[in-house]
Amino acid sequence: MVNYKDLGLVNTREMFKRAVAGGYAIPAFNFNTMEQMQAIVMAAVETKSPVIMQVSKGARNYANASILRYMAEGAVAYAKELGCAHPEIVLHLDHGDSFELCKDCIDMGFSSVMIDGSHLPYEENIALAKQVVDYAHQFDVTVEAELGVLAGVEDEVSAAESHYTKPEEVIDFSTRTGCDSLAISIGTSHGAHKFTPEQCTLVNGVLVPPPLAFDILHEIEKKLPGFPIVLHGSSSVPMDEVETINKYGGHLEAAIGIPEEQLREASKSAVCKINIDSDSRLAMTAAVRKHLAEHPGDFDPRQYLKPARENMKKMYIHKIVNVLGSDNKLANCD
Ligand code: 13P
Repeated sequence: MVNYKDLGLVNTREMFKRAVAGGYAIPAFNFNTMEQMQAIVMAAVETKSPVIMQVSKGARNYANASILRYMAEGAVAYAKELGCAHPEIVLHLDHGDSFELCKDCIDMGFSSVMIDGSHLPYEENIALAKQVVDYAHQFDVTVEAELGVLAGVEDEVSAAESHYTKPEEVIDFSTRTGCDSLAISIGTSHGAHKFTPEQCTLVNGVLVPPPLAFDILHEIEKKLPGFPIVLHGSSSVPMDEVETINKYGGHLEAAIGIPEEQLREASKSAVCKINIDSDSRLAMTAAVRKHLAEHPGDFDPRQYLKPARENMKKMYIHKIVNVLGSDNKLANCD
């Protein structure tokens, strides 16, 4: 049994409280590789931002659970080495699908877990979330639960259609589960193809997707004043990265994300955690494709992973500073 505090990690409680009060959101970036981890830490240190490094079940299977735990410990040490004396780094399980998986992560040093019972009948979702909360809180690990279903595909998580969160359920759900934050469904979805072109409107040659359901978000905020709300599926799918991928041999058609202005607006509300995975995948793939196309003789992974890491770092900094507003928000910036 390893407690996250021994790894230098923090849970989400204090950073969420500050984010809700301050009208900004904490970035939750998914990672499976060393380069993603390095880019996340460099970006967080440069901007003095708290950060959530999250791994899905698929990422754990890919990278190996023990390696990820040491990478998180290494992330804290690396942040300090880069000059951040008091980093606030959370290691979070994204979309935990069983009590056993959540327990395993908590026992291996995670400081936060998500139990995703959103596909279950309401009472079963409550029972499963409560079981995880009861275990996690013994170790001061924070728990995210979800109400409402997001469409899209991400690792093992997939749903054909979204179901918006019902505001009339949120008080009962959060009270009975004791969860620390609530992921809601208001029109975001997982992956790089969040909307079909038919769902969008053409404005100045750009496909603009339907707006997020801010009315539902505001109703939820009224029911749960100050309660931390989480948005999944919040990649913006930058067109320049998609174009680079397609220019250098890729084939990504009709990739459409959430406009950044909408995420900026959501960050000012009780939304205090915004999940971004696809944008990192796109930034990495675009840089690797470009490098290999321009340098066909290169075969040392460092030659193409270095620009990939730089490109991800640039994207993470942009999200922190221009979209989520979590720069200079460490409790202790010294
Ligand atoms: P994106 O696919 O929009 O990056 O969403 C990631 C996510 O929500 C992880 O849980």
